[in-house]
Amino acid sequence: MQIVILKDSVEVAAYGANIFIKQLQKKADSVLGLATGSTPVSLYQQLIAANKAGEVSFAKVTSFNLDEYLGLEGAHPQSYRYFMNQQLFDHLDIDTANTFVPPGDADDPIEACERYEMQIAAAGGIDIQLLGIGRNGHIGFNEPSSGLMSRTRVKTLTKATIEDNARFFATDEYQPHLSITMGIGTILDAKKVVLLATGEAKAEAIRATVEGALSASCPASALQLHRDAVLVLDEAAASQLS
Ligand code: F6R
Repeated sequence: MQIVILKDSVEVAAYGANIFIKQLQKKADSVLGLATGSTPVSLYQQLIAANKAGEVSFAKVTSFNLDEYLGLEGAHPQSYRYFMNQQLFDHLDIDTANTFVPPGDADDPIEACERYEMQIAAAGGIDIQLLGIGRNGHIGFNEPSSGLMSRTRVKTLTKATIEDNARFFATDEYQPHLSITMGIGTILDAKKVVLLATGEAKAEAIRATVEGALSASCPASALQLHRDAVLVLDEAAASQLS
């Protein structure tokens, strides 16, 4: 695990974006693993700027998102498909047919999970996976106690994650408690993993990820097993590292 500690979230986003730009300059038909949440937003803005400046093309890219709320269709403003279209895909020269997000409205979610794994495999596997991290150490929606070998599946969200994500929902709006998420095993199969974390609230999860035991109680600690994982942190997120 490589640890990069930078001053603030601006530097973290720039560093992370640069890794993705270099990847695309080296391999134009890269398969990208993508994340939602607050953390990647400014990295995505930099990818959009680089695409508009002609530094990088997404025309041959395929992407797979980590997770989606089960029970929300892609047109729902709180769905991760909607988020990705708004924050990234609508502003790139990417073919949206090549952008995959787990289907939150699947009639048969279990079958949909198996199909998602097959689609990743058919694309040749993920070249580079972007991750954020939850305060409880989750990656994707792999909450504490997730199997370290797990594959894409339906997961119940913990109370902590539901509370953390309540900020995106209106007070009386339905907030799903179930998700479809890539498994930890799926994430570990990516050739390269880039995890971004910023802010004091992530410091304990980062300490457990880097210095804690390899354990399902901190799902991100599974990255200790990956041969090419880089954690890009600001000083606040790194503040509990010894
Ligand atoms: C999002 C995802 C989650 C987030 C994590 C951090 O697709 O998989 O694991 O990365 O909850 O969220 P933020 O960035 O909002 O703190």
